[in-house]
Amino acid sequence: MQPVLDYLKQNQPRFLAEFCDYLRFASVSAQPQHKKDLLACAEWLVAHCQGIGLDARLCPTAGHPIVIAKTKNGSRGRSLRRKPHYMVYGHYDVQPPEPLELWTTPPFEPRIAGRNIFARGSTDNKGQNFAHLKAVEAYLKTGTPLPCDLTFVLEGEEEVGSKHLSSFLKKNRRELACDAIVVSDTGMPAPKHPALTYALRGIIAFEITLHGPARDLHSGIFGGAVENPAMALAHLLAKVRDDKGRIKIPGFYDGVAPLSKYEREQIKRYPLSDAGLKKLLGASQLFGERGFTPTEQRSSRPTFEINGLTSGYQGEGSKTIVPAWARAKITCRLVPNQKPAHVRKIVCAWLKKNCPPTVRMEIKAGHGAEAYLVSPTSQPAQAALRALEKAFGTKPILMREGGSIPIVNEFKKVLGADTLLLGIGLPDDNAHSPNEKFNLDCFENGQRMSAYLWQELTAG
Ligand code: BES
Ligand code: MN
Repeated sequence: MQPVLDYLKQNQPRFLAEFCDYLRFASVSAQPQHKKDLLACAEWLVAHCQGIGLDARLCPTAGHPIVIAKTKNGSRGRSLRRKPHYMVYGHYDVQPPEPLELWTTPPFEPRIAGRNIFARGSTDNKGQNFAHLKAVEAYLKTGTPLPCDLTFVLEGEEEVGSKHLSSFLKKNRRELACDAIVVSDTGMPAPKHPALTYALRGIIAFEITLHGPARDLHSGIFGGAVENPAMALAHLLAKVRDDKGRIKIPGFYDGVAPLSKYEREQIKRYPLSDAGLKKLLGASQLFGERGFTPTEQRSSRPTFEINGLTSGYQGEGSKTIVPAWARAKITCRLVPNQKPAHVRKIVCAWLKKNCPPTVRMEIKAGHGAEAYLVSPTSQPAQAALRALEKAFGTKPILMREGGSIPIVNEFKKVLGADTLLLGIGLPDDNAHSPNEKFNLDCFENGQRMSAYLWQELTAG
């Protein structure tokens, strides 16, 4: 093990240069003009994985390609007992970088400042999956035997719903059958506070459009005599929530289990105060469902969020019109026991019922996924906690996260395997925001965590 740790220590400058190469690909999965950048990034990954000694291949899909990279297991035929097999999942696609004017330096020109590296995708998720690749490189290049077989699955569609990975899993379920999946695509509270995440929220996404007059109208000539779709949408959305932060749609909270006393005690250990959170978010005040702490609100309670709201004239100056339409992009975060199809049904039915007859409502359904919840006391979870403690030098905390990684549910359904969520992103990493960054201590400790993990998972 020592040669692995020494190798990691000695090679950080080169790792950093390679990480920058990885970050230069504008692998924005949501934007069709970047299709070739995703392909180039996937090809780069395949070559990189081959270079560190893995068997790697590019798997084209109807969308963006999937990269599969495996440890070579020449001995498997000879030995009777198969080694444990773990999958490491990550994604090389990134969120759109817009608004570009808010970036201090361009999103795809990585910049190092102190112990941070700034670029779109640095924390979500290139840096996190690259840490695992560097750990396996250290094993392979130092000739240290790995106590398990590893398969890396790096996809290019996580940020747009992992559509093609789920069919890929079904088609390749034999090759991908494994004892557990390791995913570093979540967070930890602070550089010195590693965490094992044992729950994620689910999600449903949809888009509502209210259609009014056949075209934009002069608001002086016609305004007042015809419905304004933007006003109608504002009215409708305002009815969704009460002033205590509770969603008023009947049935929305169906099945939501109350937090146990034990969980609430654990959640209190999360080392970020309300004042610290307020400062981090640059908000003048916090707001959330009454009766729950901010950490509870953002990890364990369902939400209804407007992600985008569009109507009428958006340019400079004024334009006096009654817009022809208004649109809202919505996502609801879901918690364990909420069924995405059911929530979608009641939310859409409520919206239709409450839509005034003066506009026509159109609802476009987007992706959906259940929440994820896994036992934090299982043997693999205990092994992961030991690896985190060894790498970071402090006791990890257990936490629930508010983000969603829909594919982990598929891992369970299709492969029957649980996922260990070992995120090394920080709350101030600006994931999905301008000036996204990744902390280099997290990068380095993440590599060591990965190196320890394979030992701990297979110990005893
Ligand atoms: N890495 C995130 C998910 C995440 C972030 C989980 C922080 C827990 C803590 C992932 O890349 C992501 O952004 N997922 C999307 C999923 C959606 C597009 C289906 C999300 O949560 O919005
Ligand atoms: Mn993301």
